[in-house]
Amino acid sequence: MSKQLIVALSKGRILEETLPLLADAGVEPVEDLGKSRKLLFDTNLPDVKLVVIRATDVPTYVQLGAADLGIAGKDVLLEHGAAGLYEPLDLEIARCKLMTAGIVGAEPASARRRVATKFVNIARRWYAEQGIQAEVIKLYGAMELAPLMNLADEIVDIVDTGNTLRANGMEPRELIAPVTTRLVVNKASMTMKHARIKPLLERLKQAVVARREDVAG
Ligand code: ATP
Ligand code: PRP
Repeated sequence: MSKQLIVALSKGRILEETLPLLADAGVEPVEDLGKSRKLLFDTNLPDVKLVVIRATDVPTYVQLGAADLGIAGKDVLLEHGAAGLYEPLDLEIARCKLMTAGIVGAEPASARRRVATKFVNIARRWYAEQGIQAEVIKLYGAMELAPLMNLADEIVDIVDTGNTLRANGMEPRELIAPVTTRLVVNKASMTMKHARIKPLLERLKQAVVARREDVAG
């Protein structure tokens, strides 16, 4: 196993909040990630490299050991499954909720419910746990459109302010899971590279606590 540590970062909205935490933990990319078409970046630490990939690909990279560490939303991790991964740290950023939602005032369909989502595994599991028959329809975006177009009775999606739902005549219904961004570690790396990973984890933990105290004032 190489001595390098590869950290897989989710591009998109998590990245902006991740970089200050990493910097506080002593890891800084040597160039501006936002301004480059590159996907693999050196950092100020010669043995730490960053890869910037689709959020949904982060668990796969870490599970299969292409990256030692990863940063991804709990939603993505629940959808992917936890095999081969430790989840030692909640970074407490990108806080939101996984919820069901439907058209304002509409009764949930009584027979087999049609549910549009990109979180098909989470949705199947949740509706089964509730004893509700559901036909889960995979979409890749704009879930809020599906009930309006009569493609589905309800959706499973991320809700933060609720603005996206409201703007589309929809309302949140049931909470499936609270979501924050997590640090995940490949199980073999945690053993083989423990001496290198442990101090980084500690520094990240301190950065999270410092940020929490900062926010609390
Ligand atoms: P991909 O590009 O792989 O399709 P995406 O477009 O869903 O991913 P982002 O929108 O950047 O990715 O969201 C990344 C993560 O940020 C989500 O997995 C979730 O954990 C969190 N997130 C998404 N929407 C919100 C929101 N409105 N408020 C707070 N956190 C959010
Ligand atoms: C996310 C998510 C919801 C929205 C919820 O979308 O998919 O649509 O945020 O946030 P709200 O409750 O504050 O409106 P995002 O803005 O990331 O766009 P996306 O559809 O490209 O993922």
